[in-house]
Amino acid sequence: MGSERITLLSKRELEKMRQAGQLAAQLLDHLGKMVKPGISTLELDQEAERWTQEHGATSAPLGYHGYPKSICTSVNEVVCHGIPNGKQILQDGDIINIDVTPILDGYHGDTSRTFFVGTPSPTAKKLVEVTEECLHRGIAAVQPGGRIGDIGAAIQEYAEGHGFSVVRDFVGHGINRVFHTAPQVPHYGTKGKGKRLRPGMVFTIEPMINEGTWEAEVQEDGWTALTKDRKLSAQFEHTLAVTQDGVEILTRLE
Ligand code: MF3
Ligand code: CO
Ligand code: CO
Repeated sequence: MGSERITLLSKRELEKMRQAGQLAAQLLDHLGKMVKPGISTLELDQEAERWTQEHGATSAPLGYHGYPKSICTSVNEVVCHGIPNGKQILQDGDIINIDVTPILDGYHGDTSRTFFVGTPSPTAKKLVEVTEECLHRGIAAVQPGGRIGDIGAAIQEYAEGHGFSVVRDFVGHGINRVFHTAPQVPHYGTKGKGKRLRPGMVFTIEPMINEGTWEAEVQEDGWTALTKDRKLSAQFEHTLAVTQDGVEILTRLE
């Protein structure tokens, strides 16, 4: 999967990624506190852009391959890349993934969480909890000398063990001064397979877990990915670095 070289970051570059990651974590925390019935996804986007500029950063999604907004807001059956919209008002019982990627001093911090709007259905609650645990199991599978496939295997086993499915069409990715680069990090796979993990590698893990089928389809707008069966999808994302003895989560809120 991909013959592109994987960049190993220097100590200095890792410090830059730490700073961008922390800013991303703070932005996501800030936006999460605004999630309530009655707010529009456009209001979340506008506050994200304002807050990002106030903190001396820019929004990587804005204008990225023509993407029109500063964040992604993926509600209920939207798998990823939902576009904020003033007519989309959050309702009690919805789930919403907010995905932010500020660029600070040239470096990207990429993180997302799925939030409950008011009170979730039992199924929504279960799906979101399982998805967050998938991210943490994926991160726990990262170790220098390990393989990319260890990550997906851990995620797939947990998600499918709970009767859910793993999206295939979107994967984690290397990230540094470039938003999306090698390696690709699938959220399914086989332990012991794939590229070797080495200290200095920086990438995201961002499992999208579905209530029903894993199949997704991209809408006419060229971005919004929906579940094919229109059942729920949830996602959590961190940016992390492989270290000498394990893993550092760069977008964990300090
Ligand atoms: N933040 C997304 C990711 O996790 C990418 C969004 S690209 C955009 O990789 F153009 F849709 F914003
Ligand atoms: Co993201
Ligand atoms: Co990402």
